[in-house]
Amino acid sequence: SLLVPSVYEMAKQSITKVPEQYLQPNQDLPIKSNTILPQVPVIDLKNLLSEDVPELEKLDHACREWGFFQLINHGVNPSLLENVKADIQEFLSLPMEKKNQFWQTPEDMEGFGQLFVVSENQKLEWADLFFINTLPMNIRNPRLFPNFPQPLRDNMENYSYEVKKLCLTIIERMAIALKIEPNELLDYVFEDLSQSMRWNYYPPCPQPENVMGLKPHSDAGALTILLQVNETEGLQIKKDGNWIPVKPLSDAFVINVGDTLEILTNGIYRSVEHRATINLEKERISIATFHRPQMSRVVGPTPSLVTSERAALFKRITVGDYYKTFFSRELQGKACLDIVR
Ligand code: SIN
Ligand code: FE2
Repeated sequence: SLLVPSVYEMAKQSITKVPEQYLQPNQDLPIKSNTILPQVPVIDLKNLLSEDVPELEKLDHACREWGFFQLINHGVNPSLLENVKADIQEFLSLPMEKKNQFWQTPEDMEGFGQLFVVSENQKLEWADLFFINTLPMNIRNPRLFPNFPQPLRDNMENYSYEVKKLCLTIIERMAIALKIEPNELLDYVFEDLSQSMRWNYYPPCPQPENVMGLKPHSDAGALTILLQVNETEGLQIKKDGNWIPVKPLSDAFVINVGDTLEILTNGIYRSVEHRATINLEKERISIATFHRPQMSRVVGPTPSLVTSERAALFKRITVGDYYKTFFSRELQGKACLDIVR
């Protein structure tokens, strides 16, 4: 990654015009029409865990048709979530002198900055991101986690663990919905799941329709669990050619299928393009937690989802090779999956 300046600091200057390198004028705007747009499905984990068949079918439908759902009654302690939200808000608004200690370096993409910046003259995104590997413990960067102020450090420790547990629960329910042996999917993540997080800060912008917080992309991993820290809208999902806004729902996680899970399910559960747009007056903050098998694992369509009616749609690849390609490019829709077709 190339190093870029802080958009947080830029937005603080009350600018009226955005620097050229941030202008992305030819955006595909959401269709403004009188028809009511469909909404991302809402799934109730309590019902899923009580073997409620309609809820399981809803999950199945969401993963096939949307690649996304909002999860309510997820069981993660609400006061932990409130603490995490407050801590992150405080951390993201630290003064630059403090943030510098946590800034990316040319060799190390973890910390504050942007990702997917691969050339000097590419368009930049209207966001400061904080990227960090969280699990397993031994991949933690000694420069970051141990130096977090308290109570952020302890709350993050708990949050990371709770979200990992939730990830395994969801993947198990997905396997049940697919009518396959849960271990066929869980085996990739149970023993050796890797987790990383991206804390996304999107400042307001005087030209919101000409900048992008995160360009259209799909996620590389297996499962992403997103917590929206405030109520500002911004996340949009591509569905049948339209960009559908995701309404922030308090007390819900937004969960999505990543490329690795699309590969493992032989394309039955879909990794769907999404993007983050920017607001004229309000900042937006979100916490994305990504889960994937270890880099050395080979992934391909799981045997019981390859049948005489449905041939294998993807070649086998190591997670490491997939990620190497993913992080060597600009974000560009679902293009990375083409390397395994
Ligand atoms: C993402 O990580 O792609 C989603 C970002 C967001 O909703 O802020
Ligand atoms: Fe994403």
